[in-house]
Amino acid sequence: FHVDWDIVTAEKAGFDHFMLKEIYEQPKAYRDTMGSRIASDGNSVTLNELTITPEAIRKISRVHIVACGTAYHAGMVGKYVIEKMARIPVETDVASEYRYRSPIITKDTLVIVVSQSGETADTLAALREAKRCGAHVLAITNVVGSSVAREANDIITTWAGPEIAVASTKAYTSQLIAFYLLGLHLAQTLGTQTAGQITEVITALKELPTQVEEILGQAEALKVVAEEMAKHDNLFFIGRGLDYAVALEGSLKLKEISYIHSEAYPAGELKHGTLALIEDGIPVIALATQHDLLEKTVSNIKEVKARGANVLGIAVEGELELQKSVDSTFVIPKTLDVLSSALAVIPLQLLSYYASLARGNDVDKPRNLAKSVTVE
Ligand code: AGP
Repeated sequence: FHVDWDIVTAEKAGFDHFMLKEIYEQPKAYRDTMGSRIASDGNSVTLNELTITPEAIRKISRVHIVACGTAYHAGMVGKYVIEKMARIPVETDVASEYRYRSPIITKDTLVIVVSQSGETADTLAALREAKRCGAHVLAITNVVGSSVAREANDIITTWAGPEIAVASTKAYTSQLIAFYLLGLHLAQTLGTQTAGQITEVITALKELPTQVEEILGQAEALKVVAEEMAKHDNLFFIGRGLDYAVALEGSLKLKEISYIHSEAYPAGELKHGTLALIEDGIPVIALATQHDLLEKTVSNIKEVKARGANVLGIAVEGELELQKSVDSTFVIPKTLDVLSSALAVIPLQLLSYYASLARGNDVDKPRNLAKSVTVE
């Protein structure tokens, strides 16, 4: 009697790769990260773990978000979320740039470092520099007891569970959930949103895990699109506002594991140079989840269509205007614009996964990359 079994296969729990398993773990990661941080009446959030006082929050004059790679992309979403909800100016920086550019950090600066592993050398160095300048440092990290967690003044732990695949998926989306909770916490303290607005965001937030499950149920359709995409060597992602932040993450994910060259562009910026690269048949993934910007994005889609691009639109349910202007559409469930990134990124993760698979790459361990970058 022989059982073909090894520890790695067991850890993959029936999935072919850790990345796919981790993509499917996202509904749980969302629920666990929200956990008891949402009051049972659904009207407020409580970040009991934070030591920063309401008085200190009221004194914050600016926020710096610092991170690398995918965590940096989560930080770009964090900028939009905090500025919108709490009306505090936010800058987001790549850690390896931030630490060398003499950033203006004062005692009234809240520095947020984001790191799945909590061990990324540049992020850790930025944290130390911020502390040296007297800033309050808040870490969003997935590893309890990591260097970043130990050295920060405050921690919001993302409860995504261990992430093994080099390409980050559930850690990124849990970081988004952490930013939504933090944005709400700041807004509650500062009174920048009404009680009704806060309840509305929390209600939508609680729906996200089920909505992710709905998207995951359509994975087969994305596999077909990805297999076609995998035949190309160049591809573009476009979007405006929060969609641009998600476009950057989609592009990084695709490059990292499929080795297809891709660029993410703010849709309105195309005509300032990049449009010259659009030629017949080139795939363009257009994210259009932001209602206020929809008309503008559609006009940018028409610009690339006119040059022969083959456009896949990522659209919100019921958005028929967009569907008319693209070649194919992937529809995500309806949510508030400010939360859409937590849904829009899921099809992009699946497209990258299936494109990598179609190209015969090592999905979980892409060439030249390490899971945690502990050197500068
Ligand atoms: C994401 O897919 C990457 N592998 C990479 O960009 C990663 O997010 C980055 O190295 C930061 O890691 P950290 O979150 O552990 O600090």
